[in-house]
Parts: sequence; C-alpha cells; structure tokens
Amino acid sequence: MQQVLAFDVYGTLINTDGLTRQLATVLGDRAPAFSKQWRERQLEYSFRRALMGDYVPFRVCTAQALEQTSQSFGVTFSADFIADLLAQYRRLPAYSDVIEGLGAAAKVGYRCVAFSNGDPESLDELLESAGLRTHLSAVISVDPVRSFKPDPKVYHYLLEQVQAPADQTCMVSSNPFDVLGAAHAGLQTAWVARSPQAVFDPWGVEPTWQVRDLQQLAVTLGSGER
Ligand code: 2OP
Repeated sequence: MQQVLAFDVYGTLINTDGLTRQLATVLGDRAPAFSKQWRERQLEYSFRRALMGDYVPFRVCTAQALEQTSQSFGVTFSADFIADLLAQYRRLPAYSDVIEGLGAAAKVGYRCVAFSNGDPESLDELLESAGLRTHLSAVISVDPVRSFKPDPKVYHYLLEQVQAPADQTCMVSSNPFDVLGAAHAGLQTAWVARSPQAVFDPWGVEPTWQVRDLQQLAVTLGSGER
C-alpha cells in the first residue's frame, strides 16, 4: 500500500506571517508581534471551540482573532482594511521549500494530501493561489467533523478519507500540538522545525521524524532513516 503524507496547511505549507508587510503599513514595527498574536488567538479559539463543541468554520476563528488582537493592540482598522486582510489571508504564500519538497516526496513514492482546520472553500482558494493544489492528491478539511485539531475525531476522519491505516499515514506539521494530536491518534508524525528556535512540547512524546524543511523530509523518508 502507498504510504500517505498528510500535510498540515497553516504554518506548515503556508506562511501565516505572510501579511506582516501589509500590517506594517498601519502598525509599523509592531506588525510581527501583531501577526504572532493573531495566529495564537486564532488557534486558541479553535481549541476552545473544539472543547466546547461549538464549531464555527476556521475563517470565523481567524476573523474573531483579528478583532481581539486589534483591540488588545489598541488599533482600529478601517472596514476596508479588515476586509482586505481577511481576503489576503485566503491568498497567503507558501514557504519557499514547499513546492520542491512536495514533488520530492511524491518521487520517493508517497501520496501527498493536505489536512487542515481550514474550511474547504478557503483551502481551495489558498492552495490554488499558492500554486500547491496540483501537488496534492486530495485536500481534506476537518469541517465535516465539526471540530478542530487536536480532537482525535479529526485524525480518525483523515484516516477514513485516505483509506490507510494509522501506521501507514504520517502527519507532517510545524505545529507541535498537531504532531502530538496525530501521535495520540496513533499516526506516524514528522515535525517540521524551520527555525532553530522552534521548541517542541515536553510531553514525553517525540515525533517519528524531525526535519528542518520539506526537502529534508523527502530525503529522510527516501533513505528509510528514522
Ligand atoms: C491547520 O490545520 C493547524 O492551522 C493549522 O492548517
């Protein structure tokens, strides 16, 4: 059976700090901190909603996190600027290693799919505009499960969708919570730590593989290393 690589999208294939320049036109040198908090709040909202059983599409978490972050930074963006930021969020750029890395993973025999908290329409637009769609054999959203990572239900849904057992399916993510969630559901995992400063959660569980980018992942998997 062909082994599956399930790639997380936001933060792994796609750079969620891709709007920093646009934010800087209003926020100046506070833009990187704003971008970081916006992302942290977006994820926190998804965790809380999963725990509460109060699902909304991920784009709602993104918009509400933007509003909360703006308030906490004491800035008021115009309605047009907000609409534009949210539209641009659906066209964020891919990291520079991604296209080659996906190609290399397919060449060493893996089936590459995307698996994300994102809602299907946002994912389609995002992956198409970043030039990644043709490199992925499927795009799987948590949306039909009406929950978010790291709820075990969403990883079980992924396995159903790819029709592969957990030990033949590897979740590839830069987000430690996603790696731990997938490992908890029994999947193989690869943590993509692009920055030397990235820290993995000390929960006593290690990723199956740790790599610095997707090209290294393909080389590592191709060589059969652990
Ligand atoms: C994703 O599922 C976790 O945001 C991340 O794409």
